[in-house]
Amino acid sequence: MSEKATLEYNGNKYEFPVIKGTEEELAIDIKTLRAASGIITIDPGYKNTGSCKSAITFLDGEKGILRYRGYSIEELAEKADFLEVAYLLIFGELPNAEQLEQFHSDIKSESQVDEEMKKILDGFPKSAHPMGVLSSLTSALIAFNPSSVNVTSEKEMYWAIVRIMAKFPVLVAWTLRKKKGLPLDYGDDTLGYVENIHKMMFKKPNQEYKKNKVIIDALDKLLILHADHEQNCSTSTVRIVGSSHAGLFASLSAGISALWGPLHGGANQAVLEMLEAIEADGGDTKKYMGKAKDKEDPFRLMGFGHRVYKNFDPRAKIIKKSADEVLGDLGIEDPILAIAQGLEKEALEDKYFVDRKLYPNVDFYSGIIYRALGIPTEMFTVMFALGRLPGWIAQWREMRLNGEPIGRPRQVYTGENLRSFVPVEKR
Ligand code: SDX
Repeated sequence: MSEKATLEYNGNKYEFPVIKGTEEELAIDIKTLRAASGIITIDPGYKNTGSCKSAITFLDGEKGILRYRGYSIEELAEKADFLEVAYLLIFGELPNAEQLEQFHSDIKSESQVDEEMKKILDGFPKSAHPMGVLSSLTSALIAFNPSSVNVTSEKEMYWAIVRIMAKFPVLVAWTLRKKKGLPLDYGDDTLGYVENIHKMMFKKPNQEYKKNKVIIDALDKLLILHADHEQNCSTSTVRIVGSSHAGLFASLSAGISALWGPLHGGANQAVLEMLEAIEADGGDTKKYMGKAKDKEDPFRLMGFGHRVYKNFDPRAKIIKKSADEVLGDLGIEDPILAIAQGLEKEALEDKYFVDRKLYPNVDFYSGIIYRALGIPTEMFTVMFALGRLPGWIAQWREMRLNGEPIGRPRQVYTGENLRSFVPVEKR
């Protein structure tokens, strides 16, 4: 028998079941609230409101815990590779060797992108932000893959998933190469999934591609760390767009746009721009700490704070360690890293940040590694999207397989009451 919660209002009592998740999280199920009481709840930003039950990712913001399908992010980042983590998130279990090989083989079989898509890419100016290009190209893919739109069977869903896992990295590479004025390259089916991505992005037309294990391993780890994060802004966007039974590619295109915002995935680009501004300003971190605390100043310490983590973001800890290793292995002395470390130290000792439990998040150090890997700042959020792709897919698939209803929140109206139309000559 589930526990009950009681709401009392205006002399009436309303009872609601309390549900408990597998990690002891509690939620009051209010699906009968309006019918029983005529009252709704309101919760701007959904800070206290669950949108769904999900079996994909668990995070505990107070304890700084993050797990994909029960596996800790620390173990996956150390022992797994990105393609097997993608399989785990999407299908629920780590693949055996045969399943992983089949998944990769199916992906390779779908990795061609219609040449006509290049005409759409050509239509963009070089100055176009890569996130806008990527969102548009992802949506344009629909036209060339109509069978991936109205998927109803799990088999159709599988092939829609394989197609986007195959073609999205090509679009990411083309977006970068367009910006750099390089010919649009195709992948190499003899390479691993992430190595192939790196080759498509960086192979120079007149040079042989040389694999750098440090770079590939760092990229693989970054993609794992970004792969899913339960009901964040862009994932909630993918789920609510998909709840109208819009296709997977359309839902992902919407998710890319949501991720673009500087308060969300766009923060990794904003962090680097902030650190470069501090460097240009003589490394005066105290001035920027003051700006971050000044309510009159819209400046925020980008890469700090999180809606859920009120402790260290476990991903930030791993990325910070990896930044030291990668820059060391590549022999790169980046003054920006020292500025970031100084800023972090100051913030962690500052009352404003301590009182508000503002810690470095996933975006604070990731840009330093992307920069060391030769990825332009404007492409940082595209790399976030590349990592988040399997998470978005997993969440969209779960929502569809669970047969969830179309997302349609209510509101409290605060506009004008009924009034009569006044002809223009009398206004
Ligand atoms: C991601 O949700 C996810 O899971 C997202 C993500 C994922 O993997 O999908 O983890 C990825 O988006 C990470 C977050 C990246 N964004 C940034 O780094 C941008 C900077 N951070 C903030 O804008 C902010 O911390 C948010 C948006 C991340 C969270 O904002 P909330 O939960 O709405 O909190 P809030 O804005 O109400 O802040 C609470 C207080 C406020 O001060 P008071 O009004 O209480 O005095 O903290 C202050 C804020 O002004 N504050 C900051 C701050 N973040 C919050 N002050 C200065 N600098 C900051 N970065």
